[in-house]
Amino acid sequence: MENTQVVHDIHSFSNPAEVYIKHLKWRAEIDFSNKLIRAEAQWEIVNHSATTLTLDIKGLRIEGVMVDNHISTFNLGPYDPLLGQALDIPIQSTTKYVSISYCTTEGAEALQWLEAQQTADKKHPFLFSQSQAILARTWLPCQDSPGVRFTYEAEVTVPKDLLALMSASNPKVKNDSGVYFFEMSQPIPAYLFALSVGDFSFQAISERCGIYAEPSVLASAVWEFADLEKMVTAAETLYGKYAWDRYDVLVMPPSFPFGGMENPRLTFATPTILAGDRSLTSLIAHELAHSWSGNLVTNATWNDFWINEGFTVYFEHRIMESIYGLAYSEMLASLALQDLRLTINELTQAGTAADTQLKLDLRGRNPDDGVTDIAYNKGYFFLRSLEEQFGREQFDIFLKAYFEHFAFQSMSTELFIPFIQKFYLENFSINLDAAFFQDWIYSTGLPDSCPEPVVDAFKEIEEGLNIWLQGKDFSRLQASNWNTHQWLFFLNQLPTSLNSAQHSAQLSTLDAFGQFTTTGNAEILSAWLVLAVRHGYEPAYPRLKDFLVNTGRRKFLLPIYQELMKTAEGKIMARQIYQEARANYHFVATHTFDAILKS
Ligand code: BES
Ligand code: ZN
Repeated sequence: MENTQVVHDIHSFSNPAEVYIKHLKWRAEIDFSNKLIRAEAQWEIVNHSATTLTLDIKGLRIEGVMVDNHISTFNLGPYDPLLGQALDIPIQSTTKYVSISYCTTEGAEALQWLEAQQTADKKHPFLFSQSQAILARTWLPCQDSPGVRFTYEAEVTVPKDLLALMSASNPKVKNDSGVYFFEMSQPIPAYLFALSVGDFSFQAISERCGIYAEPSVLASAVWEFADLEKMVTAAETLYGKYAWDRYDVLVMPPSFPFGGMENPRLTFATPTILAGDRSLTSLIAHELAHSWSGNLVTNATWNDFWINEGFTVYFEHRIMESIYGLAYSEMLASLALQDLRLTINELTQAGTAADTQLKLDLRGRNPDDGVTDIAYNKGYFFLRSLEEQFGREQFDIFLKAYFEHFAFQSMSTELFIPFIQKFYLENFSINLDAAFFQDWIYSTGLPDSCPEPVVDAFKEIEEGLNIWLQGKDFSRLQASNWNTHQWLFFLNQLPTSLNSAQHSAQLSTLDAFGQFTTTGNAEILSAWLVLAVRHGYEPAYPRLKDFLVNTGRRKFLLPIYQELMKTAEGKIMARQIYQEARANYHFVATHTFDAILKS
C-alpha cells in the first residue's frame, strides 16, 4: 500500500491507483551554455491494471520512449497552463520498465540558472531546482503527486569545475570526471526530487551533519549553524530516529525563493538567515523537522498542506524549546500569532475567508495559493491547543506513534482525525470531540480558545511602543540588548497607519533608535522596509532598491512590492526596480510578482 494514493489528487494527471512509479534511474547531463538538462528517466513501475502509464510533464521536450527495451509510441495530452500535460505511454500488464529520453526547455519552472555574477563568489554559474509543489514535472516526467513515492539512483554529468548535489547520498568533494552518482534508498514524493550544481565546498559539523556552501560563505555558515547536530539529536529525542541517514545543509544563492526547502538529506537554505548572531536558525529547525512531518508522513494532496507545515512549525518550536528554552520558543510562538492574526484579517478583508480554513479547496488553483500563515501558524496553534488541552505527555506519545505508524506514507486530514480520536480514546481514555476539529480545521478564522503565548521579553517592548505613541522619546528604553525577536515584535506592533505628515520625521526617529535601514538582519530589514514605504521614508529607499534587486526570497519581497503598489508613485518605483531585479528571481517569485505588478 505504501505507494498508493489515499485520495485523488486534483493537481496531477497520473493514475497511481492503477499503476505507479517505484524506482527511478536518472541519467542527466547539465548543459550550462544552453541552460538545459538532457536526461533519460528510466522508471521501474508496478502495474496493477492499467493499459496506459500517465506521467505529468510541463515544458519538456520528449525525444523518445522505450517500454521494456522496445521503442514505444506515446501521446501528449492537451496543455494546461497550471498543470502542464499528460504524457501517456501504452503499457502491458507485464511491463516493468519505461524509459523517457527528454530535454528541459526554457519553460523549466523548477530550475534557476544563475550566471556567475549572481552568486556569492561571482566565479562560477549555479543551477538549482525547486520542485515543491508541482514543478518536478518541469524537469522530470513523473507522477507528480505527493501521494506517490519512489526511490532513485542518478548519474549526473556537470562541468568539471562544479559539484552536483541532490536530495540523496552526496559527494563531499569535486572529482576530475565531472560525473557524480547518487542514491536515494528511501522512497520520496516527486516534490522532494532536488538538484543543485555549483562551486560548493563542504565542512563537517558532526559525524552525520555538515554544511555545503560557496567557498566564501562556508565559514560563516558553519558558525551560524554550529548547533546542527544538537538540533538533530533534540528532534530524535522528541519524535523518534532520524530516518534519512545524513543531514546536511546547502546554502543557496540570495535568489533562492524560499527561506528553506526540506530536500531529504540536504536542506536548501537561504543565505538571508546568516545574520551573524545565530538569531534566525529556527528556520533550520523547521526544515529538519520536515524530515518527520512532510518527508516521512506526507500530505496526501496540496489541500492537506497544513499536515506538512502545521506539524512542522509545532515540531520546530519544540526543537528550539528543548535546546534554547521555553522563553526562546515562546518568542517564536508569539510572533507566529502576530503574523497569523494579520493574515486572517487580510484574507478575510480580501473576501477569501475560505482560505483561512486549515483544509483547503484548491481545485483549479495553484497549490502555491495555499502557502500562507494559515497552514503554518493556524496549523501550529491547532496542534498546540491539542497539547495544552489534553496534555503534553499524551501529545508527545501520540506524535511519536503517528510518525512511526505512517512513516513513508501519505496523510490526509480525513485520515488524521479518526486516527487521533481512536488513539486518544484507546491510550488515554480521552474523547476528542468532533466539534474541536470542526472549529479548527473546517472553520474560518481563529477559535476563541486559541492559545496565547505570554512573553516577558516582549512586555518591555510594548511599554516602549506606548511611550513612542504618546510622543515621548525612547531614551528611557534599554534597546541596546534587544534581540532580533524583540525588534521584530516591536516593528510588527507599530500601528498600521501612523497618521499625519510627521511620519517621515517619526520614522527617522525610529530609524535612529533601531538602526533599521542599515541592519544586517534580513528579517528585520524586510519588516522595516514595508514601514518605510508605507510612510514615505526616503532615506531607506537606496537600501530598499538594493534589497529588492539582490534578494529573491519571496516572503520578504512580496509585502514590500504590495506596499509599493498602493500608491501611484510607489507603482512607478516598484516597476522600475522590478525591471532590473526580475532577472535575479526564480520562477515562483516572478510568477507571483508579475501578477501583482500588473494590477
Ligand atoms: N516546504 C516549505 C517551502 C515551500 C512550501 C516551497 C510550499 C514550495 C511550496 C519550507 O519548509 C518552508 O516552510 N519554508 C519557510 C520557512 C519556515 C521557517 C516557515 C520559508 O521558506 O519561509
Ligand atoms: Zn516548511
